[in-house]
Amino acid sequence: MNEKTIRKAVKMLRGVIAVVIGLVWGDEGKGKICDLLASGYYHIVARFAGSVNAGHTIEINEKKYVLHIVPSGVLNPEVKNVIGNGCVFPPEGFIKEVKELEADNVSTKNIFISERAHITLPTHRLLDRASEEAKGANKIGSTLKGVTPTYRDKIGRDGLRYGDVFMSNFKDDYEALKKEHIKLMESKYSFIPDMLELEKSEKEFFEAIELIKTDYKICDTSKLINDALDAGKNVLAEGAQGALLDIEFGQYPYVTSSNTITGAVGAGLGVDPKRIGKVYGIFKAYITRVGEGPFPTELHDSTGDLIRENGHEFGATTGRPRRCGWQDLVLLRQQCIVNGVTDLTMMKGDILCGIPEIKACTGYRLPDGSIVNWAPYDLSTAEPIYKVFPGWNMTMDEMQKCRSVEDLPQEFIDYVNAIVEYCNVNIHILSVGPKRDQSIIIE
Ligand code: IMP
Ligand code: MG
Repeated sequence: MNEKTIRKAVKMLRGVIAVVIGLVWGDEGKGKICDLLASGYYHIVARFAGSVNAGHTIEINEKKYVLHIVPSGVLNPEVKNVIGNGCVFPPEGFIKEVKELEADNVSTKNIFISERAHITLPTHRLLDRASEEAKGANKIGSTLKGVTPTYRDKIGRDGLRYGDVFMSNFKDDYEALKKEHIKLMESKYSFIPDMLELEKSEKEFFEAIELIKTDYKICDTSKLINDALDAGKNVLAEGAQGALLDIEFGQYPYVTSSNTITGAVGAGLGVDPKRIGKVYGIFKAYITRVGEGPFPTELHDSTGDLIRENGHEFGATTGRPRRCGWQDLVLLRQQCIVNGVTDLTMMKGDILCGIPEIKACTGYRLPDGSIVNWAPYDLSTAEPIYKVFPGWNMTMDEMQKCRSVEDLPQEFIDYVNAIVEYCNVNIHILSVGPKRDQSIIIE
């Protein structure tokens, strides 16, 4: 890995924001890239949207860390980690995560929580469950972390924010909101909550709030970030979920309840969008999706199973098997445009080793016979048109040892070049394994 190249590039840029965005349905490997980029080059890593529904897996020296709401800079002791105002999260979920990190000797003292971030209540989680159960076969496949009900209360101006925990009427406001939630559960979803279970959750909730108040910093993170930028420091904005789960640009309603695209960075952190210098678009050599919703290139055969097994494609948050499919260049290119991607990073190149023929979708045939290269309103009507690539003669083990482009098989390079050409964005990093050093930086 050529660290000098990144160092040189970043040295020239001071006081800028780089954004890391997953270009598909999440689980592209953003955690590894944020951790890699943050090693010495960025002073702050900030989450601008999402919640504990995210799952970022990072492997360092044989040890696996799974992060949900804690930013990926936490593994670098010098980095400040910000949970921005665009995030929502349950206090007990946060405390569980930091406790696990502390048990692994990772210091979590450098975490700053926006006073404007919204609090997920235990009843938000119950509402999530009630809503999914009521939808039956039409369920979204939510992670059931209470994300949608929390954002709904935020937009409805009924929510509670982390800054509110210092107010004397916090408990009363909590009780009032909880009462509304229970009414809604019963009237809208005919869902009767288990009160004993709820009391247990509430106890954990309030204990966690107290711990956050004493051991962590709730503050104006917009000021913190802007002061750092003015002092010439660089900030990495860490996306969660993926661009295709965006509330506006995903396949509604099979989306998450926040904006996940680059456009959300300004609002989600309280920063000038013109500060954004780089947008790293992360994608895998193939694509995956957890939860329901259209997926034109999904594989229902043994190749899909092989990718799932070799790629360990099981949800980091829910453990669900991920749906696997061929690369979809139509979706990828479109998201490069929507997100203003300046540099592409391809993850998990090693996983396609041993597959004799690789396919990538380069267009869709629609029911009226037309062929398009931009996703239609109803993606479920799109029939993929494939370009076929020969596989490469290299094992996963061998590819994980590659450290420069020269080490890679020509068929693999051809596949990557086809992606670059189609998307018209350069590749910056090729990741060939889960570990920090299994990365090839392209100059
Ligand atoms: P929710 O955001 O938990 O309500 O889930 C909505 C949809 O987004 C479901 O299909 C989830 O599986 C999916 N989703 C949410 N967060 C992630 C993530 O971090 N990675 C992948 N899929 C996610
Ligand atoms: Mg994930």
